[in-house]
Amino acid sequence: MSNQWLSEMQEQKIEELLSKMTLDEKVGQMNQLSPSIVGGFDLPFPELIEMVTEGRISHEEFSKIMQNAEMDYQEDNIRAGRIGSFLMNNPKKSNELQRIAVEESRLGIPLIFGYDVIHGCRTVFPIPLAEACSWDEGIFEETARIAAREARSRNIHWTFAPMLDLSRDARWGRIAESPGEDPYLASLYSRAKVRGFQGKKLDAGDNLAVCLKHYVAYGAAESGQDYNTVSMAKSLLYNAYLPPFKAAVEEGAATVMAAFNDFNGVPCTVNEYLLREVLKEKCGFQGFVVSDANAIDDCIRHGIVADLEDASKKSCIAGMDMDMNSHAYSGYLKQQVEAGEVPEALLDDAVRRILRVKMALGLFKNPYSPEEKHTLYDVLPKEHVATALETAKRSIVLLKNENILPLKKGQKIALVGELADMSSEIVGSWSMGFNVEDCVSIHQGLLNAGADVSYAKACGVTSPFQPEELQSVVKDADIIVAVVGETISMSGEASSRADLSLPGEQEKLLEAALATGKPVVAVLMNGRPLTIPWVDQSVPAIVEAWQLGIQMGNAVAEVLLGSYNPSGKLCCTFPAMAGQCPRYYNHPSTGRPGAKSKFSSRYLDAPLEPLYPFGYGLSYTTYQYDNLTAEQAKDMIIAKVEVANTGDCPGEETVQLYVQDITASLVRPVKELKAFQKVSLQPGEKRIVEMKLPKSSLGFYDDDMNYLLENGEFNVYVGTNSKDCLMEKITVIF
Ligand code: BGC
Repeated sequence: MSNQWLSEMQEQKIEELLSKMTLDEKVGQMNQLSPSIVGGFDLPFPELIEMVTEGRISHEEFSKIMQNAEMDYQEDNIRAGRIGSFLMNNPKKSNELQRIAVEESRLGIPLIFGYDVIHGCRTVFPIPLAEACSWDEGIFEETARIAAREARSRNIHWTFAPMLDLSRDARWGRIAESPGEDPYLASLYSRAKVRGFQGKKLDAGDNLAVCLKHYVAYGAAESGQDYNTVSMAKSLLYNAYLPPFKAAVEEGAATVMAAFNDFNGVPCTVNEYLLREVLKEKCGFQGFVVSDANAIDDCIRHGIVADLEDASKKSCIAGMDMDMNSHAYSGYLKQQVEAGEVPEALLDDAVRRILRVKMALGLFKNPYSPEEKHTLYDVLPKEHVATALETAKRSIVLLKNENILPLKKGQKIALVGELADMSSEIVGSWSMGFNVEDCVSIHQGLLNAGADVSYAKACGVTSPFQPEELQSVVKDADIIVAVVGETISMSGEASSRADLSLPGEQEKLLEAALATGKPVVAVLMNGRPLTIPWVDQSVPAIVEAWQLGIQMGNAVAEVLLGSYNPSGKLCCTFPAMAGQCPRYYNHPSTGRPGAKSKFSSRYLDAPLEPLYPFGYGLSYTTYQYDNLTAEQAKDMIIAKVEVANTGDCPGEETVQLYVQDITASLVRPVKELKAFQKVSLQPGEKRIVEMKLPKSSLGFYDDDMNYLLENGEFNVYVGTNSKDCLMEKITVIF
C-alpha cells in the first residue's frame, strides 16, 4: 500500500518486520501508556488532581509536586516488546526508555513519544480559539512550526493536535481548543497546522507527527456538556464536522484520535462506520488511530460493551489501532486472536499503520534525541517571542469602541481586575511546557510600553469586589481599564459552563468603574464567548483579548495604546444569553425564520440576534463596502467589491464572502463562508477586491456521502462580517 510519507522500499521493510512479529509484539505496538505515578508525595494522586482542577493549588505548584513523583516506566514490558508508545515529556528519560526498546527488545522497534503540544511548547501562543480569530494561515502554520521545533528538541515525536472539533456551543469548555464554528475556516486551519507541525518531510528531525482530534463531532456534545452524547444527520457530519479532518488527511496527517462521545448511539471508539468506512476507506487515511485517554475502558460506562475484554474486541474490530491507557489490548487482544474472535489481519493492519508513522518520523534510523538539543530552548529565541507577540496581536478582536480607544498619549490609566496582573493565567488551558518567567501580564505589558498606569486588584474572578481598592487607583486616573473574564480552569476539558456571564462580582466592578464617570475600557480574558449584553450596552469600549499566551501583556498594551490597529475577526458567535446556545451563523434554514412575529423561530425572552456575529471585529478605522458584482466564468464564480478605508488610520480588513444555496434537495445553511481576503488600506484608499470561488465548492453532501452539485439560484454575500453584507443573486449551472 503506498502513502504520502514512505517509499516502496520502506513499505517493504515494514512488511518484513511485520512477518517476524509474534502476536505479543503486535499487541505491544498497539499499546500506549503514560508512566504510572506510584508515589512521591503525601496525598493520593486523584486528590492532587482534584486540588489543581478546583484551583486549590496552582498549576505551578502542581508541576513542582509532580517533579518529585515516583514513576513506574514499565522497563520490563518495553524490553519484552509489550509497549509501542508512551505519553510523556521527559527528554532524558525518554532516551533511556528508547534505548531499552531499540537495544534490548527482540526486534528493536522504537517507541513513539506523544504529548499534548496544543498551542505551543515552551513558547505558548494564543489558545486555538483566539488564534483562529486572526484568520491567518501563515500564523496557523508558523506557530505550529515553532511548537514542533521546541517539542522535538524535548524528545517528543508526536503531538495530540490539532484539535479540529467544530464548536458551535459556547457552553462547551473545549471550544477554547478549537478553531471555532465554521468548516471552511477550520479546514484552512487544519491544513496549515499539518504543514506547520509535520513540515515538508516528517523525518527532518524537527517535526512532529500530528494527531487530528477528536474524531468526530465531539464539539456537538448535547447541551455543550463535556463528554455528552451526539446525535447528528450524516449529511451534517459530511458537510460541517468532517471537512476539517478530511482536509488534514489530504494534507498528510499521520494520526487521528477518536472522540469520547458516542455518535448516533455508537461511541466513536468502537464505531466501525466512522473509523473504517469513513476515515480509512472514504477519506483514504493511511496513518493510525489512537483512542482518547482511557476511552476504550469508558465504553463499559457507555453501556455498549459488557467489560474491558468486550471493549478490546469491539475497538479492534472497529479500527482502533492504539489503546491509550485503557490496558484493554494488552490484557485481552492476544487471547482474542487465538480464540478466533478477532482476525489477526486486523492487528496486522493496525501495526502496519503504526510502524509506518514511526518509519516516516525517521525513528528506525534516529531513535534518540541528542542530549545537547534538550536545552536548546532553555533561553527562548527572539524569533519565537516575536511570533508569539505578532500572533497575540492578530488574535485580539475589538468588540466595541465609542471613540475611547486607542488611549491618548499621556493618559493616566487605572488598571483593575485580578486577571490584569496574573502572568500564569494568560497561557490558557493545555499549556504544559511553559515557564512563568516568560509570561507578560497585561499590567507588565502596559509598564513595558511606558504607560502611566496604577494597578489595583479590586475584584477577583471569583473573590468579591472591593470598592475601596477601586477608589484607591481611580482618583487621579483619566481612564479605567478593567480586565475581566475567566480563569484557565473555567474552559478546556471538563469545564463546561451553563451560565456564560462574567463569573463572580466582575460586573459589579465594571458598574462601579462606570459610576466614577471616567471612561472605562473592558478587556476580556477568557477561553470562550461570554454572554455580556449588559457590558455591551454600558461599557464604551470592549477588547476581546482571550488567553493570548506568553506575550499577552505586550500585545494588549500595543492595541490599547494604538501602536497596533486590531484586525481580528470572531471565529465563533457570541450569544446574547446562554439559552441561545448552540448559536452559530451557518444554521440550516428553518420554515419560519426568526422575526418579530410570534410564530417564528425565536425565544419569547431573548433577543433574535446573538450579541456579536461570526466574522465580526472592529478596527480603529472604518471601512465602506460598495458595488458588489458576482459573475461566472467557466468553473468559477468571481465576486468583486469596492472596499474603502473611510477612517483616519491605516488598517487591515478581512473581506468575507458567504454563499447561500436558495433551493436545494436538502435544507442548506442560511449562509456559508466560502472565501475571504485580507486587504491593507491607507486612510482614504479604495480598492476593488476580487474573490474567485470554484463552482465545485457550491455543492454539498447528502446522507450517503454523495457530493451533489445542483443547478439553481445562489445568494452571494460579501461584507465585513457574517451579518453586515452586500448581496447579489446568481444562477449557477454546473
Ligand atoms: C483529552 C485529549 C488529550 C488526551 C491526552 C484527554 O483527556 O481529551 O485531548 O490529547 O487526554 O492527554
